[in-house]
Amino acid sequence: MKEKMAMRVMLAAVMISLAGIVIMNGNAQAAVGITGSAHDFSSKTWNPSGEICRVCHTPHDANTSVTGAPLWNHAVTTANFTLYSSSTLNATMAQPGGPSKLCLSCHDGTVAIDNFGGRTTGTKFIWGNYLIGTDLSNDHPISFTYDAALATADDGLYNPTTQTSGLGGTINSDMLIDDKVECSSCHDVHNGSGVADLLVKSNGASALCLTCHNK
Ligand code: HEC
Ligand code: HEC
Ligand code: HEC
Ligand code: HEC
Repeated sequence: MKEKMAMRVMLAAVMISLAGIVIMNGNAQAAVGITGSAHDFSSKTWNPSGEICRVCHTPHDANTSVTGAPLWNHAVTTANFTLYSSSTLNATMAQPGGPSKLCLSCHDGTVAIDNFGGRTTGTKFIWGNYLIGTDLSNDHPISFTYDAALATADDGLYNPTTQTSGLGGTINSDMLIDDKVECSSCHDVHNGSGVADLLVKSNGASALCLTCHNK
């Protein structure tokens, strides 16, 4: 009898602590993967398909206007962007390249989010903090080559071809697309690591920044 009681008390304690973990994670992005993430639009009224991938991808009839785009299904931005510049910047800036253009096709605010699957009459535009805009002069630079030569020119950067990223390989293999820094160097559009703000890794104690910057 006593044993049974003790067992019940233990079980109750386990359940309370489990509930505690769930509550603790309530505000953080606990789950890994796109389902339930900021990019899961399956329950939005403007996405009657109820599908997750369709807003950005399609198995057929994809938009091929951006070279290398993965079976793209969303209307693509044609904006001209104001680029980042500074007196200490060593890298050469250019208009956003393919991979970042895909993000900016919702985040620059010029293309409606619900313009996908050939639709051009969408009315839902990105809002608030999610709006990056077409002025990139106040954003971390993107779409530029980050190679060993840049690391030599700027002695505050690690050599991306030899420095490990903490994600399994080098900065180059894990974070750069065709040797370039893009939005996806810092973000995982599919929430693959489950870190808040769709980051590729935690930026606690600036760990993300310190992956590339030797400060
Ligand atoms: C909000 C837009 C968006 C949604 C929704 C989305 N993707 Fe993607 N996906 C992208 C972008 C942008 C890329 C280009 C590569 C990158 O930047 O990570 C990509 C790349 C890919 C790739 C090729 C590269 C890789 O990561 O393997 C595959 C496969 C893919 N997505 C599958 C999916 C599937 C399956 C779904 C639904 C479960 C999905 N995506 C939902 C935006 C999206
Ligand atoms: C189909 C339009 C679309 C595309 C394409 C898209 N996004 Fe988003 N993104 C959104 C919307 C809408 C939100 C806000 C969702 C919400 O929280 O309600 C968002 C939110 C985010 C957030 C905030 C996440 C959070 O948890 O607060 C980040 C970071 C982000 N997107 C980065 C990207 C990057 C990087 C790419 C390209 C690789 C991309 N997005 C492509 C529509 C898009
Ligand atoms: C060098 C790393 C880096 C790059 C490159 C980068 N971001 Fe971010 N982004 C971050 C970090 C870190 C955050 C977390 C919030 C913060 O610190 O502002 C963030 C936050 C965001 C948010 C959420 C804003 C909010 O206040 O909730 C969006 C949306 C976003 N980024 C989109 C993009 C898009 C689109 C691109 C490419 C044009 C991009 N990011 C490029 C590091 C980066
Ligand atoms: C994937 C690698 C990478 C990550 C992650 C990264 N950066 Fe950078 N960042 C670079 C490179 C490369 C440059 C270009 C430096 C140059 O050419 O002088 C740069 C440029 C900058 C600049 C402008 C330097 C100048 O001279 O104008 C600042 C500031 C900066 N990063 C801060 C950050 C912060 C803060 C974070 C974290 C939120 C971060 N970076 C994350 C690679 C990265």
